[in-house]
Amino acid sequence: MGDIVDPGTGLTERQKTAVRESWAKMGKDNIVEFYFRLFTTFPHIRAYFKTLDGLDQDALKISPKLRAHAINFRHGVSSFIDNLDDIECLVILIQKVTENHFRRNIKPKPFEEAFSLFTTFVGDVQEVDEFTLNAWKATLATVLSVITEHMKTLEEQTDGH
Ligand code: HEM
Repeated sequence: MGDIVDPGTGLTERQKTAVRESWAKMGKDNIVEFYFRLFTTFPHIRAYFKTLDGLDQDALKISPKLRAHAINFRHGVSSFIDNLDDIECLVILIQKVTENHFRRNIKPKPFEEAFSLFTTFVGDVQEVDEFTLNAWKATLATVLSVITEHMKTLEEQTDGH
């Protein structure tokens, strides 16, 4: 039963459970740390965050703006995880996030980088097995495919096609 693939997300029930349990263990501090790592690993991603301009590493680490960004991300990801069983709602939620970022000229590539780093991060801060890490990879690949697809549509609309 747990191994039957949900055709909407491409995930099995066991994979969804693994991701839900892992996500539930991610506290605010973890996500703040993830964001700090994201910005230090990918300075070009940080460059999109104009409100963080001028902060050095030490100031960034304790910045309330960094914490606020982390909270935004956390709420967004939580809404995805909470709706893994409702693909129609999930797609709308992801499309909304895509539109908010498309307006800021953010392409799928930074999402791909952020997601790949996130899986590594989970492995670093939690005691997770290979199954859970692969479940995260599969989940984020599904999210990324919706983002990429929707960005294409938005670009076509912008081009006037
Ligand atoms: C699943 C992944 C992500 C989620 C759920 C997410 C969610 C959000 C939310 C909820 C906001 C605030 C609402 C808004 O202003 O639209 C936001 C703002 C923002 N996000 Fe993301 N985001 C994600 C990934 C990324 C990535 C990969 C980048 C890389 C450049 C990024 C860059 C930004 C920027 C620049 C802002 C505006 C910050 C500001 O106004 O100060 N986000 N994001």
